[in-house]
Amino acid sequence: MEVVVLPDADAIASVAAEVITGLLSDKPAAVLGLATGSSPLGVYRQLIERHRAGEVSFAAAKAFLLDEYVGLPADHAQRYRSVIRDVFEQYVDFAPDAVRGPDGNATDLPTECARYEAAIVAAGGVDVQLLGIGTDGHVGFNEPGSSLSSRTRVKTLTDQTRADNARFFPTADDVPRHVLTQGLGTITDARHPVLVATGAGKAAAVQAMVEGPVSAFCPASVLQLHPHVTVLLDEDAASALALADYYRETYAHKPAWQGL
Ligand code: F6R
Repeated sequence: MEVVVLPDADAIASVAAEVITGLLSDKPAAVLGLATGSSPLGVYRQLIERHRAGEVSFAAAKAFLLDEYVGLPADHAQRYRSVIRDVFEQYVDFAPDAVRGPDGNATDLPTECARYEAAIVAAGGVDVQLLGIGTDGHVGFNEPGSSLSSRTRVKTLTDQTRADNARFFPTADDVPRHVLTQGLGTITDARHPVLVATGAGKAAAVQAMVEGPVSAFCPASVLQLHPHVTVLLDEDAASALALADYYRETYAHKPAWQGL
């Protein structure tokens, strides 16, 4: 796990966007894994700017969302499929149907989850997976207690996550209780997970993910088992890390040929 401590959210977005533009330059038909929530918004803004500048094209790429609420009406602005369209997809040149998410309104949710897993495999697997982290250590919507080898399935959000996400809804009670989410096994099948986190509110979860034991109690800690993970943090999100100075020194002296 490579931990990179950067000055602010713009610097994080720039490094993450560089990973994705570099991937698409080498492999135009790459498969991207997209997260929603606040953390990746700067990355999407940078990718839109680079696309407008003619520096990157998504025309041959595919993308899969991490997760989706169950039961939100098709036209609800907070459906993650709608959010990704509104903040990113509509501004770049993805082909029609190149961006997919699990359908939280499917009549048979377990079948929909299996279909989604099969679609990711049929696309060749995810090359770069953008991730945020919840204050309780979730990635995707894999809440504490999630199997470290889980696949896409229905999960129940914790009260903490519903409270955290209440800012997107009229009240906390309006946040759906159930979601579909790629499992931790699905997420760690991605060839390069890139997790972004900012702010002091994420410091404890980040510390548990990076320096705590690998445990279902902090689902993001499963990333310690992956051979190629990049964690991009601002100073506040890195503030509880015991080895923060070591991570800074390592990045400052990273051989240029190594890349991220
Ligand atoms: C969203 C997702 C979640 C968020 C996490 C952090 O697709 O999978 O794991 O990344 O809840 O959310 P923000 O970035 O809003 O703090």
